[in-house]
Amino acid sequence: MAGIKLKSEDDLKLMRPACVIAGQVLDEITAFIRPGLTTRQVDNFAAEQMKAHGAKSAFLGYRKYPCHTCISVNEEVVHGLANERELRFGDIVSVDVGVTYKGFIGDNARTIAVGGCGVQAQRLMEVTETALYKGIAAAVNGNRVTDISRTIQEYVEGNGFSVVREFVGHGVGRSMHEEPQVPNFVDQKMNDKLRPGMTIAIEPMVNAGRPEVKILKDGWTVVTQDGSLSAHFEHTVLITEGEPEILTICPTLSKLKVA
Ligand code: MF3
Ligand code: CO
Repeated sequence: MAGIKLKSEDDLKLMRPACVIAGQVLDEITAFIRPGLTTRQVDNFAAEQMKAHGAKSAFLGYRKYPCHTCISVNEEVVHGLANERELRFGDIVSVDVGVTYKGFIGDNARTIAVGGCGVQAQRLMEVTETALYKGIAAAVNGNRVTDISRTIQEYVEGNGFSVVREFVGHGVGRSMHEEPQVPNFVDQKMNDKLRPGMTIAIEPMVNAGRPEVKILKDGWTVVTQDGSLSAHFEHTVLITEGEPEILTICPTLSKLKVA
């Protein structure tokens, strides 16, 4: 608990636009993705958009991570590296965007169908996204991290899918990974109390089959052990006195001057 950094209004003046930009870049990538593009072209496009918004990738160089975004296709769970692979109609691609702007980080992700996708993939994406929003709804003052974790886990498993254990959500602010950790399964060791001013990235990673994952020889790409499809949705969220606030979505975007 001691290490949790509560954000002041002054911090939020910088962190809000960082998160808005992260959301905008993810929206721009979503609109850009189509069959035939390589994941490298998607990553390059993301880098251009970040630059256009006056922001930088929070991932590039983090523990020597070599790309601007994480692009994980089909059975890839997270941390997929951009390369010469061409996206094909029917693929599902999880794109994770973290940007640094004025010293703060905004972090968000979503899984996108390339042109269209199968029924199971569609249901997997829907369940994962709904799990995220249910988890966010549990992110209220006085609740604990496990209330978020349990909400996500029960919804996902109730729909016949599984949650990844090896990677978890996290506090986010001036650093990409701050306390607390926010697992998508109940773990009493990660059970901090939620307080106004906390900013956390909630990010269910959901497998269609079994929960186990492995890391490929590139040292980064996480894939499902059983080869089943995986989806990932993430938002940066502010705990308030009232309802949680999703910082990486901005309905009043047009009124906000971010650049
Ligand atoms: N959004 C991810 C996370 O929160 C992405 C990190 S990718 C890395 O952990 F390359 F930067 F590690
Ligand atoms: Co994250």
